[in-house]
Amino acid sequence: MAAPVARFERVAKRYGAAPVLRAVDLALGRGEFLGLAGVNGAGKTTLIKCMLDFCAIDGGRIELFGLPHTAARARARVSYLPERFVPPYYLTGRDFLRLMLALQERAYAETEVQAMLAALDLDPAALAKPVRAYSKGMTQKLGLAACFLGERELYVLDEPMSGLDPQARACVKALLARLKAQGATLFFTSHALADVEEICDRMVVLHQGVPYFSGPPRALCDHYGETSMERAFLRCIAAR
Ligand SMILES: Nc1ncnc2c1ncn2[C@@H]1O[C@H](COP(=O)(O)OP(=O)(O)OP(=O)(O)O)[C@@H](O)[C@H]1O
Ligand SMILES: [Mg+2]
Repeated sequence: MAAPVARFERVAKRYGAAPVLRAVDLALGRGEFLGLAGVNGAGKTTLIKCMLDFCAIDGGRIELFGLPHTAARARARVSYLPERFVPPYYLTGRDFLRLMLALQERAYAETEVQAMLAALDLDPAALAKPVRAYSKGMTQKLGLAACFLGERELYVLDEPMSGLDPQARACVKALLARLKAQGATLFFTSHALADVEEICDRMVVLHQGVPYFSGPPRALCDHYGETSMERAFLRCIAAR
């Protein structure tokens, strides 16, 4: 079997004395689309921050592409969209994308960028505007554009659909389907369980610092004999 793209072993994280992650074991397979669900404050963003070495872990280990997660070489294969994406307010959309591509040693190609904006339903006129003049959804689309233009093997997206209208959500799903066909791997968080069900091969419900459930989204419903993902989720987190 191919080595996992990411592996978490007994990962623990505390903020002060408060444990957030207690013993997270998780492996993300190559080409897998994995959705992380959990109530507000469950630790989803913390798990991502640990994975990308934005904060130190207090126990266990994490590997990315077979390397310790602290190795910059491992992170170079990852494209990341933070939960609160705030680009520098004084840059135009075009300057921001130019900067992000330059950081990845990639050329800025206007046709490629225009095609990405069209795929995300973002008006190309936005490229010339400073990002402070963007709406929330427009800003989110810019962040997604920067991520997808990076063309990495692993996409780590923390609530990628946040602030997007239904049309834009459909656009993002179509883009993700394209990435899936190309063999990319996705690790994302979402509160929209319908999106998780539609997009993912597997979902993990993180609760009280540990994964409560890991399996295909439909299996969560089957396990609790529920037809609705929401009800199955609620039963799952009440289960222990
Ligand atoms: N920098 C920090 N310092 C102290 N506590 C923190 C910090 N960041 C997060 N926490 C706490 O860790 C817990 C998990 O937060 P986290 O942001 O990972 O949750 P989440 O599952 O992403 O929630 P949401 O669905 O609201 O995004 C919360 O109790 C939060 O208050
Ligand atoms: Mg979060």
